[in-house]
Amino acid sequence: MDKIILRGGNRLEGEMRVSGAKNAALPLIAASLLAEDPMHFTNVPHLQDVTTIIELLGQVGARVIVGERMKVEVDATAIHSVRAPYELVKTMRASILVLGPLLARYGEAEVSLPGGCAIGTRPVNLHLKGLEAMGAEIRVEEGYIKARAPRLQGTRFFFDQASVTGTENLMMAATLAEGTTVLENAAREPEVADLGECLNRMGARISGIGTDELVIEGVSRLGGVEHRILPDRIEAGTYMAAAALTRGDATVKGARPGHVESVVEKLREMGAEVTLGGDWIRVRMDDRPSPANLRTQPYPGLPTDMQAQLMVLNVLAHGSATVTETVFENRFMHVQELRRMGAEIELTGNAAMVRGVERLTGAPVMATDLRASASLVLAGLVAEGESSVERIYHIDRGYERIEEKLALLGADVRRVPA
Ligand code: EPZ
Repeated sequence: MDKIILRGGNRLEGEMRVSGAKNAALPLIAASLLAEDPMHFTNVPHLQDVTTIIELLGQVGARVIVGERMKVEVDATAIHSVRAPYELVKTMRASILVLGPLLARYGEAEVSLPGGCAIGTRPVNLHLKGLEAMGAEIRVEEGYIKARAPRLQGTRFFFDQASVTGTENLMMAATLAEGTTVLENAAREPEVADLGECLNRMGARISGIGTDELVIEGVSRLGGVEHRILPDRIEAGTYMAAAALTRGDATVKGARPGHVESVVEKLREMGAEVTLGGDWIRVRMDDRPSPANLRTQPYPGLPTDMQAQLMVLNVLAHGSATVTETVFENRFMHVQELRRMGAEIELTGNAAMVRGVERLTGAPVMATDLRASASLVLAGLVAEGESSVERIYHIDRGYERIEEKLALLGADVRRVPA
């Protein structure tokens, strides 16, 4: 397994360009299953998870053409299976996103029940409860979700916990249901809104996009459209945090400043100078970060996917701060690895008390999940000496060419095939 080797101490300077968002591409590619003509996507990020969902669509019989610069055409007009196999689903739990579309378009679906992962058990009970409320008959047998519904019926469904892919799955299913569906306490992440906009251009009738109440009037068919994947706000936030951490001066280009407001405010609170343009964000920092309490929330609050990265700023701050993770039950896997580099962090339940230190020292550390890995790379950018981050296949799931983009900004970083 490849690893990334870093030598700390370089300031990040210059410009980087954000790739398309992983968490937008996955539901959009799944939505192709609803279309009666081919779909064309541009600005698709070249990531392992995107490759996985493309493979999954291929397995059910969709024809997928990956063009130059990651243009992707998906023709799911003649699929021959409704089964998403364990071998693929076990590598990416977001495969659950094919359940709603398959059920809505073909009346049946067999999707391997996604396992948990490093950050939590991550149940899909709300996905299943919502589909049952729409009239689906759902059984879980031999590790597979077996769902059938001759025609889904519109319903009113309240999410007792905001769920991004839960909202996406039910919104997609509702587009072809009989009657109107109202989703309450729906997730408001930009990726959910982007999916809703795309579905409407395909012929769906969704209102309330961007709010926590979505109203979907079922229609009889959806057509194929071209859609550009929106920029990845978590990749943008990760590089913004890296610029601040290294006391650099870097600009993230091709981003949506409106999608990273909570991260911008937090970086400013920590002492960064952040300037916003139409599609760029510039981050400058001259001093040691000021400590700032972090509390993750569903959008538009501070993203859980930025918690590990921003924690590293607190690790090196001149004071103490508390980091509270409210979305997932075990998203502190980066803490023990950061401790090995000299961080002083105490965990109690879903809160981490971080006591800032002057410096970190490089060490071999191990990635466990996507964003924890990113925080270890960030720590390696400033730790004295050499750090090596192992098992970086976690990183490749969500960050396109991370070592190239960091090197272009002046980091001393290289990828070493294991
Ligand atoms: C999406 O995961 C993202 N993945 C995650 O990004 C992100 O961390 C998460 O939303 C929160 O923003 C994709 O979009 C592909 P949830 P998702 O359903 O949809 C509980 C990354 O790093 N829950 O919003 O799986 C759940 O356990 C990944 O890019 C239920 O209890 O997250 C969690 O505590 C990691 N039952 C909370 O809700 C359900 O049926 C929020 O989960 C569904 C969720």
